[in-house]
Amino acid sequence: MYIVFEGIDGAGKSTQIRMLKEWLEANGFRVETLVEPTDSEVGKLIRKILEWPDAQTDDVQRILALLFAADRMLIMDKLEDESKIIISDRSFISSLAYQEPREWVEVLNKYAKKPDLLILLDLDVKKSVGRTSGKDTFENEKFLTGVKANYLKIAENYTHEIIDANNGVNKVSSDIKKAVAPYLGICPDCIQ
Ligand code: TYD
Repeated sequence: MYIVFEGIDGAGKSTQIRMLKEWLEANGFRVETLVEPTDSEVGKLIRKILEWPDAQTDDVQRILALLFAADRMLIMDKLEDESKIIISDRSFISSLAYQEPREWVEVLNKYAKKPDLLILLDLDVKKSVGRTSGKDTFENEKFLTGVKANYLKIAENYTHEIIDANNGVNKVSSDIKKAVAPYLGICPDCIQ
């Protein structure tokens, strides 16, 4: 099973993935986690470009769209391992939500693997901006408002669960477990 976590910056994806992984392993599942951008040379270049002051301009976003798609190709074979649950921190769905124009980004990601389950951590934009300081607050708020709206629309195309990420870490974690349990045949009442 391929589970993808998505959400705007600061939604808590990495913490929640760690907590879900521990819980699934305690329930006897084998789990592998992946992160996009990856730690490949392409991923490193992406992280450098994300620091550029003009990273949110159209031109740079198009360069990033190409690099994100290339970076993703490097981990394609890992997604074929059916002996484990694979949980990914972001996927091509991030590209669809963050980069434009949509039709072009879809073509670039034509061969990206579709998730069996998309977990969308839905966080208020103001909280996201508060949690991720350092960027121009107004520009960032406008940008992330668009990304959040994109996510909610894109989610409808996949098997998905929307989780309210404005709550505390433990509440969000238990909401995720309850959402994931039916897909894995885990009894929902057995979740503490
Ligand atoms: P990430 O390291 O997940 O940031 P955070 O931990 O703060 O959520 O991702 C880095 C940034 O890259 C994030 O702002 C989202 C962006 N991104 C895209 O714009 N498109 C993509 O396809 C991916 C994978 C990430």
